[in-house]
Amino acid sequence: MKKIAVITSGGDCPGMNAAIRATVRVALAHGVEVWGIKNGYAGMIAGDMTVLDSRSVGDIIQKGGTFLGTARSEEFKTLPGRQQAVANLEKRGIEGLVVIGGEGSLTGAKHLSELGIKFVGLPGTIDNDIWGTDYTIGFDTAVNTALDAINKLRDTASAHGRVMLVEVMGRDCGWIALTAGLAGGAEFILIPEAPFNQEEICRQLLASRAKGKQYSIIVIAEGAGSAMSLGQYIRTKAGLETRVSVLGHIQRGGAPTVSDRILASRLAETAVRLLLEGKTDIMIGYRNNQCVEVPIADAVGKKKDIDPELYRLAGVLSQ
Ligand code: F6P
Repeated sequence: MKKIAVITSGGDCPGMNAAIRATVRVALAHGVEVWGIKNGYAGMIAGDMTVLDSRSVGDIIQKGGTFLGTARSEEFKTLPGRQQAVANLEKRGIEGLVVIGGEGSLTGAKHLSELGIKFVGLPGTIDNDIWGTDYTIGFDTAVNTALDAINKLRDTASAHGRVMLVEVMGRDCGWIALTAGLAGGAEFILIPEAPFNQEEICRQLLASRAKGKQYSIIVIAEGAGSAMSLGQYIRTKAGLETRVSVLGHIQRGGAPTVSDRILASRLAETAVRLLLEGKTDIMIGYRNNQCVEVPIADAVGKKKDIDPELYRLAGVLSQ
């Protein structure tokens, strides 16, 4: 393989730039030409791509977002859209792809390989919801951002004796809420994977007040419900003063943490190596501190669960 391309697709996440940088520099070290595709699959269809050299990926390892841009493309979901994308790659002699993104982006790559383009995927999403990897690129940074917010909200919650509700991202999955909530000492962590009862939450909040607890932090994953409506419910039902913070896209930005930069760099190196060996239809995951090959059908087809031990521990420590 003499030419490959790198693409970031779907929602951005901190660490994508570190992954692009490593992809480019490892490929160049193997004497392979690297193209950067702009704005995800939409850019692939539009033929918006350029050759990258070592200098084009300088000064980006510390930056959030993705300097290539990203998008969610409706046209790519159609066969003619994908055929156009493949034609644009073939015209330039590009035989392989490193795809950095979440489940939707990796599923897209699978469709491309059906049309003859080899690819290796990297799990890039703040949600940590991809099967086959302990961590996804961007998760650690997002969790640290959420934790920083929880720490600050704790100050003001304690000053006023309020119930503070913090809604975090994660789509249908509770990894961000569980990890940030555990590290932030939340009293309740509400995630889609574990049903909860609003009335019971009110009962426990009042019981903890009676035992001398002055304020409470509730972390709720967006997939588990709305912090706004739960806050309203607690105010009405328990008569406690509540305030709500929805962290939103703040969790998607910022300089990537050390863990995310190293993870992105290691995964990308393995991805390029295996792509050049002729491998395709795999994702590189990170399990037990090792880069591992994951069949793409598993990565996009199986549901990743939360760690039940972490959830149990959070319950014990919140007493
Ligand atoms: O998948 C990453 C994520 O940030 C989710 O946590 C969130 O639900 C979604 O993307 C938001 O998507 P958008 O940026 O398109 O609003």
